[in-house]
Amino acid sequence: MSDVQAGTGQPGAGPAGAGLLIEGAAAIATLAGGLRRGAAQADAAELRGGGGDRGVGGGSLAVAVWRGDIVATGPQPEVMRQIEAAGYPLEAFARLDAAGGLVSPGLIDAHTHLVFAGTRESEWQMRSRGAGYLEVLESGGGILSTVAATRAASAEDLLAGARRRLAEMLANGTTTAEAKSGYGLDVGTELRQLDVIGRLDRGGPIQLVPTFLGGHAVPAEFRDRPASGAPTAIGAARPDGTDRYVADVVEEQLPAVARQGIARFCDVFCETGVFSADQSRRILRAAAEHGLALRLHADELQPSGGAELAVEMGCVSADHLAAPSDVGLAALARAAETGRPVVATLLPATSWFLGKHHFAPARRFIEAGIPVALATDLNPGTSPTFSLPLVMSIACLEMGLTPAEALVGVTINAAHSVGLGAEIGSIEPGKQADLVVWDVPSVEQLPYWLGGCRARVVIKRGRVVFERPA
Ligand code: NIG
Ligand code: FE
Repeated sequence: MSDVQAGTGQPGAGPAGAGLLIEGAAAIATLAGGLRRGAAQADAAELRGGGGDRGVGGGSLAVAVWRGDIVATGPQPEVMRQIEAAGYPLEAFARLDAAGGLVSPGLIDAHTHLVFAGTRESEWQMRSRGAGYLEVLESGGGILSTVAATRAASAEDLLAGARRRLAEMLANGTTTAEAKSGYGLDVGTELRQLDVIGRLDRGGPIQLVPTFLGGHAVPAEFRDRPASGAPTAIGAARPDGTDRYVADVVEEQLPAVARQGIARFCDVFCETGVFSADQSRRILRAAAEHGLALRLHADELQPSGGAELAVEMGCVSADHLAAPSDVGLAALARAAETGRPVVATLLPATSWFLGKHHFAPARRFIEAGIPVALATDLNPGTSPTFSLPLVMSIACLEMGLTPAEALVGVTINAAHSVGLGAEIGSIEPGKQADLVVWDVPSVEQLPYWLGGCRARVVIKRGRVVFERPA
């Protein structure tokens, strides 16, 4: 059997530049073969040019791209033979020297809060004096301080801030990212955030998957007021306005978002003290009725029924999962067996930045056959980072993943986490040509250069969109 995988589609004639041949790679992590779980989580389907265990011989490896799609990959001479035999005009292929580096699929950041205004470095001090993340939120800070800044920002301000972040993400190898609203918490600002996400996606080069997160926190105007307007009985718990806000999300925000067709997913921060599983369920049900796919911030800080709810509602992904219950973990494991897997999208940079010593139990997930993805959670409060290679490093150091398991988590499994598993996340004929050329020679070295491994060349839909200055 040949090591070359080649497409069979008819190329037709093409202008110069329609093709791209990446040559001289020491290794290609193809990630071919679909969503990974269990032992397969460790399989990056890596081709190595120099012989060795999985070596394919022949020295250097290549990837051929035609009109934005991958057409062949493998040892360079065979790739050349294949594309010639398939009728592609060799002279229309621009050449790109991978210079003995690793080629991987473009990285996919499956969980970001990309669009926001302001920063929150002051919370660091509050937390180091002992204030918990949710205490800061309860006192009107945290997410709510970003909400105030985001409501006050113009679309142009939000665009400019997000563009700067996207440039950093691109330099770190990200070619696709999920991006949430959730810093508006009113119809106008939620729509503005989603509109900004759509404009950024259309402007490229990073492809964005928009998520509506109206259920991120209860805004100040809904807090501390009785649901019915009736006075609260002495000694009764003060109504927190959460139910009234859930009704606002369901009756006002979701219909407006659905009408405009500007979100692919709906997400909720399901956490004791924020939105209960019941309240989250109400939002997710309504979102499903509007045709949105579902994902969930689940069990970030304590077991809150999030993993269980994600399975019950058929979420595509359950995110965070730093503190799932045993019941929740078992539910995720069962879902993975039934062919409707909920991807466990883990966010170790968040646990790290919050100074937690407890990380999501990634090894238990993998042993239970649950597919694991990794993401930055990029946001101003709990994870101000742009770097998936850094997230891979933290996952290896703190959650005991291997570099290959971590790479699976930011490529093919992340593609499934955002519902794009058929289009991106691996280097296989017919898939979109989203690729990164790294200046390290192996998957093992990617997370090894702590905070230092940046992309050398990034390719989106077959086009070079980033080159690191020499
Ligand atoms: O995923 N936990 C909820 N949401 C974000 C944090 C948002 C913020 O603090 O601004 C998260 O960590
Ligand atoms: Fe988040």
